[in-house]
Amino acid sequence: MSDTGGLVYGQGDATYQAVGGLEGITRLVNRFYDLMDSLPEAQTIRDMHPQDLSLSREKLICFLSGWMGGEKLFQQRFGPINIPRVHKHLPIDEQGRDMWLWCMKKALNELQYPEDLKIYLIEQLSFPAERIRSVCEPNIT
Ligand code: HEM
Repeated sequence: MSDTGGLVYGQGDATYQAVGGLEGITRLVNRFYDLMDSLPEAQTIRDMHPQDLSLSREKLICFLSGWMGGEKLFQQRFGPINIPRVHKHLPIDEQGRDMWLWCMKKALNELQYPEDLKIYLIEQLSFPAERIRSVCEPNIT
């Protein structure tokens, strides 16, 4: 948790509010996937996704809503989810993990969120990202 003038990220819906609620998350995820879709450095992870990114965008928006303390939209719309398990078939190595986090960091920077919020989010997202890498490891030859 990070304490910032009364706002404690990770407590209740503080992170959700700080990001700007569902509207903020939608802006963030759209920018994230636009960057992944256009930056040559991210091509390896882009190519793991379907050609049409609409459902990927919607699912990440819904997931992050609950993950940040807002409404649990993913479970409501798509049912239960286990983040490492849904990635288990993918060849995600350290580079893939870091590229995903890099796209997220770039999106956060562009949207000009406060520095402490950006640091908090990248730190927290690094945990599931690393967990995903570790379950995907057997796929890497
Ligand atoms: C470690 C780097 C990551 C890579 C390379 C990656 C890549 C992908 C890909 C390719 C898909 C689409 C799978 C498919 O359609 O078959 C996907 C789905 C998804 N990812 Fe990730 N991901 C990463 C990390 C994360 C993290 C950290 C989160 C959450 C904080 C996340 C949340 C999701 C969600 C919610 C879905 C939709 C799952 C579903 O279809 O039900 N991903 N990811």
